[in-house]
Amino acid sequence: MNRHLLSAADLSLEDATLILDTAAELAELTERATVKKLPTLRGRTVVNLFFEDSTRTKTSFELAAKRLSADVINFAAKGSSVSKGETLKDTALTLEAMGSDAVVIRHSWSGAPVNLARIVRGSVVNAGDGTHEHPTQALLDAFTMRQKLGRLEGLKVTIVGDILHSRVARSNVLLLKTLGAEVTLVAPPTLLPTGVDTWPAEVSYDLDAVLPKSDVVMMLRVQRERMGAAYFPSAREYSRRYGLDVDRVRQLQDHTIVMHPGPMVRGMEIASEVADGLRSTIQDQVANGVSVRMAVLYLLLGGSESAIGSEQ
Ligand code: CP
Repeated sequence: MNRHLLSAADLSLEDATLILDTAAELAELTERATVKKLPTLRGRTVVNLFFEDSTRTKTSFELAAKRLSADVINFAAKGSSVSKGETLKDTALTLEAMGSDAVVIRHSWSGAPVNLARIVRGSVVNAGDGTHEHPTQALLDAFTMRQKLGRLEGLKVTIVGDILHSRVARSNVLLLKTLGAEVTLVAPPTLLPTGVDTWPAEVSYDLDAVLPKSDVVMMLRVQRERMGAAYFPSAREYSRRYGLDVDRVRQLQDHTIVMHPGPMVRGMEIASEVADGLRSTIQDQVANGVSVRMAVLYLLLGGSESAIGSEQ
């Protein structure tokens, strides 16, 4: 394993499989144990450095670090000296001077984690940088697919929606390629990035044609906060062509699962009945995020033996 996790492309098949297997061990242990804490990272400090809003990623990294007995510093840019003009570099160096071993960073700047990794001595984990990558989301998505469908090799995964602004889509495409799945991206032409033809994925504009062949359908939120202009005629028109409603779900095979990384806009890219339906893995994805992030922190911070070696 590398010292940092900056991109899903950093992970070999062996690395990714080790993370998923370690997460599975940790999930089983956490379910079984009456005391949910492991002493594995006692004495280590993890800094959560969030310059962009987050519900799932921030809280699950905090919970993951605490379950491994690490000390956790939660840093939010709002209310810090960033508002006085302090740079990312100086902020990171200040926190490192207090003894951080790992920095988990979310930033609106695509490339912020890579730059941070050049500055700090500890490990850096990309928790989402701009429209670039979100590798731990891709790992927890892969974990959930494997948990629900029993394999990743040969799975047909359809990712639908705002690919242009989605760090989740890019990381999933990269990781799923490594793990042997076949990805199809479905979006209006305006919401596909330039150069998507070079990605290891098929592209389609016709959701109804792709759905019956899919083992996994992953819906993405339209990221209006990153849009300066109109990318589609109306929300209603977007939903009609690219939304997953009850009628469309009827086209799916019996085993097909429906995923969403969250946050979701109910009624836009996904109907409430589908988000809360039997095929939905949305809550499983959130729960699995804790185990996967425990595995990532454990392995990046030098874990080489079984993560559950000395249960307490
Ligand atoms: N999926 C995800 O990254 O959610 P948050 O923005 O709530 O962390």
